[in-house]
Amino acid sequence: MKTKKKEKDIAYRLDTAFINREKELRFLRNFVDARPFEILFLHGPKSSGKTTLLYKFFAGIEKEQKIDVKFLNLREKLIGNYKDFIRIFFGSTPLQSKDDIKETREYGIFNFFKLSVEVLKGVENGQLDPFEMMKREFVKLTEKGIKPVLIIDELQAIEHIYINNGRQRQVIIELFNFFVAMTKESHLTHIIVASSDGYFLNTVYNDSRLKKTSKFYKVDYLGESDVREWLLNIEKYSKIKDYTLSEKDVEKIWDTVGGSMWEIQDILSDLFDDSIDRVLDLYKQKMRGIIAHYTGLNANKKKILKPFFRRHSLSLEDFASVEMDYEALEELLRDMVKNNILYFDPTGAVYYPQSSSTRWGIKLYFESLEEKKGDGGAAHPPS
Ligand SMILES: Nc1ncnc2c1ncn2[C@@H]1O[C@H](COP(=O)(O)OP(=O)(O)OP(=O)(O)O)[C@@H](O)[C@H]1O
Ligand SMILES: [Mg+2]
Repeated sequence: MKTKKKEKDIAYRLDTAFINREKELRFLRNFVDARPFEILFLHGPKSSGKTTLLYKFFAGIEKEQKIDVKFLNLREKLIGNYKDFIRIFFGSTPLQSKDDIKETREYGIFNFFKLSVEVLKGVENGQLDPFEMMKREFVKLTEKGIKPVLIIDELQAIEHIYINNGRQRQVIIELFNFFVAMTKESHLTHIIVASSDGYFLNTVYNDSRLKKTSKFYKVDYLGESDVREWLLNIEKYSKIKDYTLSEKDVEKIWDTVGGSMWEIQDILSDLFDDSIDRVLDLYKQKMRGIIAHYTGLNANKKKILKPFFRRHSLSLEDFASVEMDYEALEELLRDMVKNNILYFDPTGAVYYPQSSSTRWGIKLYFESLEEKKGDGGAAHPPS
């Protein structure tokens, strides 16, 4: 992983912050300081800071240890089909012409699998085992006293090829079984897989039979004390000089978006020109609109979302009383997770709204429906 060259100081009125994360950084430190024995699945709701945390941690540790971090962000790769997938994992970029072959005697996607052209050809036509090639690379690094770390971020980007094609699914399952061999069995390399789609992570985990080979770790939004620390000191953390926030303002922001950093940042940027009450009110209305747009006229979506008006989280069994075909229920829950309306936490097997603002959206949406029916609904904040 290459850290970015330091850019020239550019003056911004609002900068990105990095608050706390001591607990998570400690966890990662312990993980890489232990000899590899498990795959780590990092999960957490949309924009909970997984990628930022990984970058921050490895940028720091690369300065202290002989470590070789290969960071593969699947969101930055165009994966339309199986060929793209193979190309990304095994470095088999199609060759254009004979001249290209000369120039690319050694190459590989993200410089990881520096395979010679002959070997690459062997991999492409199935005569050589790509997993064996990957393993050799890990062995080479460890023999040089370097810790290899392979990070696959945004795993959900391959969900469509996983679900729609059995053969492709098989390759991904094989890849995960290879990861088990590399961690639990030969202790060669650390492997971290991250995604905001806890449901898909869980599917891969189950399909690849990863019990007792892998660990889930949740990277969540910031807690209330971190948000207070940030927002009461916005000049220190966000370089904002134009305004300050009072205790009361901070409470209001926490009530609206909780510890969701991206949303806090979004609100901070709106506060340059508008009052806090208006900004937060518009924000909640926007969330109501998102829920209304997503739900449309689909009665089943309403049936699923309505319980979250009162309940914090729900397991599949909790939906037993919802009158709906089981398959339709599962399919819709899946759709809600994919569309970042609900989050599926694989460790507790529960669903809940992605963030506090989503909860507000659900609450305001159902209240507006009740108002339309004419029986109104007393406003109370979501739990
Ligand atoms: N500790 C932090 N303090 C403040 N802001 C943060 C922190 N960590 C991340 N952020 C901000 O939150 C936003 C989301 O971060 P990031 O993209 O790392 O989340 P993610 O969990 O990887 O998202 P996704 O679910 O899309 O993969 C970014 O704008 C980032 O700058
Ligand atoms: Mg990310």
